[in-house]
Amino acid sequence: MQAVGVIGSGQMGAGIAQVSAAAGYRVLLSDVSIERAEAGKAGIAKLLARAVDKEKIDAATRDATLARIEPVAALAAMAECGLVIEAATEREEIKRAIFAEVGTVLGRDAILASNTSSIPITRLAQSTPDPARFIGVHFFNPVPVMGLIEVIRGLATADTTVAAIEAYADRLGKAVVRANDAPGFIVNRVLMPMINEAIFALGEGVATIRDIDLACQLGLNHPMGPLTLADFIGLDTCLEIIRVLFDGTGDPKFRPAPLLVKYVEAGWYGRKTGRGFYDYSGATPEPTR
Ligand code: CAA
Repeated sequence: MQAVGVIGSGQMGAGIAQVSAAAGYRVLLSDVSIERAEAGKAGIAKLLARAVDKEKIDAATRDATLARIEPVAALAAMAECGLVIEAATEREEIKRAIFAEVGTVLGRDAILASNTSSIPITRLAQSTPDPARFIGVHFFNPVPVMGLIEVIRGLATADTTVAAIEAYADRLGKAVVRANDAPGFIVNRVLMPMINEAIFALGEGVATIRDIDLACQLGLNHPMGPLTLADFIGLDTCLEIIRVLFDGTGDPKFRPAPLLVKYVEAGWYGRKTGRGFYDYSGATPEPTR
């Protein structure tokens, strides 16, 4: 394949750029400004430097990986890409505007993919130049660590598009699961009700933050408790996804926990704002209640 374009240089976009470059692809990385795209690359450089310190990779591999990532100022640069992955903010109107803009320069055979965690692929496809060459490619955070890609085909996605994405995932060394275009796909369909239920349990006074998290960590062998994970994902993102599940199915089992809504209204989004269920201002996160 030719170059891979990544639109959005935040946590997910930078992670996707990093693993694509590490797999040998030339990567064009864009964001709302060249400064933001460059900041995304600088973050990747830090993670790669840490990997060199830990002797996971050598300095030459770090340099070669970084050299393959080019921050670009405008989506017009994506014309040379065989695959363009959108990893922008999880807001439908933003994604639609990006697809419309990049659609004007996309090559005749190029594939457009979205890293959306919950917006229906068939619906998003309406803003793309060719729904047959549009697909969902859902990575997990932290991208360099997590071994999975969820592949979601819309109604019009062609078999050749699925095959190309699976070949890409294979080159990245990630396992693929195929999901139909249903709300939350597989992972968030299962994960978000667990997180939401943990927040209901907290709100109802069943147990403390510490005890709910420790129960799942040690009682279920999860790497993080559900409230720690919710802070890690972002409480705003969790609320958006649970609302997609609720609106998309009409099933009351997906109604958002009132405490989750309240935390988001307070601007307590988790790690990224310094406070969620935990306070991140000190050396170690402290439960807030
Ligand atoms: N970027 C890159 N690498 C990272 C990283 C990051 N942000 N955070 C941790 N790592 C790496 C570390 O460098 C370390 O690598 P080595 O083993 O090679 O040294 C490894 O991950 C383990 O890290 P730590 O020892 O620091 O910490 P840990 O053992 O507690 O693991 C964790 C951290 C990998 C995040 C682990 O707690 C975990 O797997 N948590 C669950 C994450 C999860 O569920 N993610 C999915 C969220 S859902 C989602 O993304 C989809 C959605 O739509 C919402």
